[in-house]
Amino acid sequence: MKQLVTNATVLTFSGPAEPRSGPASRNVGLIRQGAVLMDEGKIVSVGPADMVLKHPDARKGRVHDAGGRVVMPGFVDAHTHPVFGAPRLKDFELRAQGRTYQEIAAAGGGIVSSVHGVRGTTEKELTALLVERAARFLECGTTAIEAKSGYGLDKDSELKSLRALKHLAAGGMIDVVPTFLGPHAVPPEYQGKPGDYARFMAKEVLPVVAAEGLARYADVFCERGYFGPIESEDFLRAAQAAGLGLRVHAEQLTRSGGAQLAAKLKACTADHLDKADDLDLAALKDAGTVACLVPGSNHFLGLSEMPPARRILDAGVPVALATDFNPGTCPCWNMQEILAVAVTRMKMGPEEVLVSATVNGAWAAGLGKTHGTLEVGRAADVVVYDCTDYRELSYWFGKNLAVTVFKGGKVAHSVEDLRA
Ligand code: NIG
Ligand code: FE
Repeated sequence: MKQLVTNATVLTFSGPAEPRSGPASRNVGLIRQGAVLMDEGKIVSVGPADMVLKHPDARKGRVHDAGGRVVMPGFVDAHTHPVFGAPRLKDFELRAQGRTYQEIAAAGGGIVSSVHGVRGTTEKELTALLVERAARFLECGTTAIEAKSGYGLDKDSELKSLRALKHLAAGGMIDVVPTFLGPHAVPPEYQGKPGDYARFMAKEVLPVVAAEGLARYADVFCERGYFGPIESEDFLRAAQAAGLGLRVHAEQLTRSGGAQLAAKLKACTADHLDKADDLDLAALKDAGTVACLVPGSNHFLGLSEMPPARRILDAGVPVALATDFNPGTCPCWNMQEILAVAVTRMKMGPEEVLVSATVNGAWAAGLGKTHGTLEVGRAADVVVYDCTDYRELSYWFGKNLAVTVFKGGKVAHSVEDLRA
């Protein structure tokens, strides 16, 4: 069905088909008195309303008067860990008592403690949880997610996690870019032997992942106490040989070599980067790797230090912002919250955060050619927000401003009647 959104403050993010850096990282492509026409899942016209209304199909479908409000592409969340069972409330309480993430993990909490929740849950139950969580992402304006396995940590449970993501994707409610994160933590069966575990994942699990087309990317937690740069490199090279793109959890808690590794292997993203130095940033820039920043996890862990967004932007590295949605470090699916944290705590500008969560998020998720901007021929993933100034999106923290979410040209979520 055709859908026209008119009388809108449109942010198109149109521009060259590449991740934005430098001055382009502030260009939102603002059109006042704009309109967007969608048909058959794609954008067929976008621009000043006068122009869009001249399109022969402009009045043939549903018309939505946005009343001057902000209309922009759906967020593309390029870093999520949604396949888990229960929240980790015990870890949360312990942190409130002053224990650190590392201390809690060493005492039996952390990633490994989420393993039971996945191993003891069926594929069907995991899929139901994912559908429920995807609805939460959608209603906050996120229409595509990169989604990692990594809480199964054995062959069956990692495959089950990726198959559950495949069921979610097949349902079509949200675009899903699946990532195989087998080496997320060392499970109890391999305690003290991270290299053996990473090799097991590469030799026994990766071939099935590749053969069944269960993942588009592979990822590794390159970190002290998890996987070192050498075992990370061996795993990532095997994944690359199997046809997967690469991403790296890099320099989150300690400077561990993940950023240089991401650059060396020309990974799509290096994620976190809290401890990255200037040489790391220069290497990422040369490699064309996107810095995927997840400040929500610093916020939720109560850390005073934030990812060095300004230094990364100044180095000319394209920045994507993502939630890192997961039960340990960031139980938040609302990208608008992340925008607020990024402006207040990382000193990014209101334009920079929007570019980072849309067009750059799309490049960071491998969807740069089809998602993240409002341009003719692109996915009709369009969101109307209850504000007339786009700076409000990172200002009213704590409130979901999304009022209507179009996914593939269909209304996927709305809190208002759409008939004009
Ligand atoms: O991105 N750093 C590794 N992975 C997650 C944390 C996962 C967890 O604690 O469950 C992250 O922060
Ligand atoms: Fe993560």
